[in-house]
Amino acid sequence: MRKTIFITGTSSGLGKLTAKYFAEQGWNVAATMRTPEKETELTQYNNIKIFKLDVTKTDEVKTAVAAAVAAFGKIDVVLNNAGMGTYGALELAKEADIDWQFAVNVRGPINVIRGFLPHFREQQGGRFINVSSWMGLTTAVPLGSLYNMSKFALEGLTEGLYYELKPLNIDLHLIEQGGSADNNFQHNIAWNENPAIDAYDATTAKLKAIMGDTTRVLSDPMTIVTVIYSLATGASKQFRNVIGQDGKDLLALRNSVPIEQYLETVAANFA
Ligand SMILES: NC(=O)c1ccc[n+]([C@@H]2O[C@H](COP(=O)([O-])OP(=O)(O)OC[C@H]3O[C@@H](n4cnc5c(N)ncnc54)[C@H](OP(=O)(O)O)[C@@H]3O)[C@@H](O)[C@H]2O)c1
Repeated sequence: MRKTIFITGTSSGLGKLTAKYFAEQGWNVAATMRTPEKETELTQYNNIKIFKLDVTKTDEVKTAVAAAVAAFGKIDVVLNNAGMGTYGALELAKEADIDWQFAVNVRGPINVIRGFLPHFREQQGGRFINVSSWMGLTTAVPLGSLYNMSKFALEGLTEGLYYELKPLNIDLHLIEQGGSADNNFQHNIAWNENPAIDAYDATTAKLKAIMGDTTRVLSDPMTIVTVIYSLATGASKQFRNVIGQDGKDLLALRNSVPIEQYLETVAANFA
């Protein structure tokens, strides 16, 4: 019987690429997105069905989960991929953007996981793959505290759930990516700025230059997709999957020196 994956945030980037790859490998794909009416590419696949889903809306989660289960009979793997970033000084962040960061990156996966648990319990098994970041395991830049907060929370959620879901034959994995060469993430960033306060301008300019640096070596997105595939099929059992040499180097440093030294090393890059 064909396996089925349910994916959030398939309008662009990693989500879209993963949906296409799984479909090409013969899986059924429940591809979810906020604006299905705009989609023209995933609609070309017979084994992809598209469902409307804003992960922050619990009523939409209920509807999308029920519709996907009704369409395919059984969901084997859920990929919590949808995400956005709020960057900039915490002092300058709009109240709504602070809440939105948490709503999409943390409450979203919570909503989707809770939506699927009755189905996974009933079928006595299932798999959640949560897309985090190495920003979920370490800090790397100034002005990213809210994004760090959200992905650190996703790490804690996933690790904590491991114990309560293991007896139910439901497993969890984390993708620790650092950005790939093919995504729309820059458009999913809310920058905190206020023309009346210039105290953070110099640091903001440095961070924007790094993020916009097109010569930066980014991961081939297919590397990430194939790691997700090996987790989905059970070929890999790895809990945390760090992808990208920059992330691996940073985590090696983080794990090899005292935290005070690590913080000063990163801060020096922005001095
Ligand atoms: N790109 C990076 O630098 C980077 C680095 C590390 C980790 N990540 C993580 O990788 C994941 C995928 O991002 P990406 O790089 O592929 O960027 P992307 O192209 O911006 O994809 C993000 C996806 O999330 C969707 N989304 C945003 N808010 C949503 C909501 N409320 N409900 C449902 N979907 C929502 C977006 O849909 P819309 O089109 O509707 O906005 C889009 O499909 C995210 O979790 C991100 O945090 C990215």
